[in-house]
Amino acid sequence: MPADNRRPEVHLRVLVPEDAGWVATMDRKSATSMARPIGFVEDRLHEELEAGAWANDTRFGWAIIIDGATAGFALVVDGDGRDAEVLLRIGPKARGRGAGREVLRHLADHHFSASPELLRLTGRAHEHNVPMQRVFNAAGFRMEARYRDSFPQGDGTAASEWGYALTRADWEAGRHRSPESGYDLHGLSFELEETIEGAEPTGLLVKFLQEGRRVIGRYTADHQLDGEAAGILSGDVLRYRFVHTAEDGTHVEEVLGRGRARLQRREDGRLEIVDKWSDERGAHGQQVLLQRVTGG
Ligand SMILES: CC(C)(COP(=O)(O)OP(=O)(O)OC[C@H]1O[C@@H](n2cnc3c(N)ncnc32)[C@H](O)[C@@H]1OP(=O)(O)O)[C@@H](O)C(=O)NCCC(=O)NCCS
Repeated sequence: MPADNRRPEVHLRVLVPEDAGWVATMDRKSATSMARPIGFVEDRLHEELEAGAWANDTRFGWAIIIDGATAGFALVVDGDGRDAEVLLRIGPKARGRGAGREVLRHLADHHFSASPELLRLTGRAHEHNVPMQRVFNAAGFRMEARYRDSFPQGDGTAASEWGYALTRADWEAGRHRSPESGYDLHGLSFELEETIEGAEPTGLLVKFLQEGRRVIGRYTADHQLDGEAAGILSGDVLRYRFVHTAEDGTHVEEVLGRGRARLQRREDGRLEIVDKWSDERGAHGQQVLLQRVTGG
């Protein structure tokens, strides 16, 4: 959810040697545990930029300008002429206002038209990097791979990454700019706001994953365990099947059912889900769920 409703003005320009200082600083400031610093050092980067090392067929460096001020950088690294990988770093203050997706759209327009042999613009996101996953989705990229244990972490373990791509055909079809292609529940959590009808699932918390129109909701409540709902989102309506384990004192039972949920956005920007469900035991109900706002 955008922190404010105004979409920022986003421009890209090619990095020049004078950018080396702020890019090296931004590299450190914008890094997270899910996106490590590239490792830019000011003097060396200055020399590389002077030598044209970040504006050639294999490597391209872009300054991201948001509302007139430098706010981050993007790198496009060409693997073999047909695939080029995008890396994105936006400073903490400028995040969450829609700049990320706009940068990907500009990059696609530039690189697909400038390099006729380029077939795919690719990118990777740490499996828990929800903002970057939402950015890829919003800019028409499709998730097409999961690289297991590909991201070494500070504690000695390795995380997985998801691989995304926008193909030349996607770009030609305008997928990267298609008007918000409906709702994106990916990575969002919802809590019970109101029970209109039927039993009240106190403590209900649902966390969604979404890929295209396919939606999975994982949920628990005080007396419901291991809940899993899967469905298809069509416009603002999600039709789904669900299964969970219901606990009532010592009685434990597996419950299956189906439902129809309608999505809408509240004035404060949060999403609301009006959910009607029925189960195979003959019970039914209606409830309202509200998006939980996180720090991000
Ligand atoms: C990832 C990054 C580039 C995104 O840029 P951005 O300008 O914030 O992107 P956008 O505003 O277009 O989209 C971010 C989305 O994630 C959402 N988001 C942010 N934090 C979130 C969280 N903790 N949980 C769920 N959603 C979250 C935002 O609300 C927004 O969602 P929307 O689709 O409802 O608008 C930026 O956060 C960044 O540079 N992060 C650090 C480096 C990094 O992770 N790079 C990616 C690896 S290549």
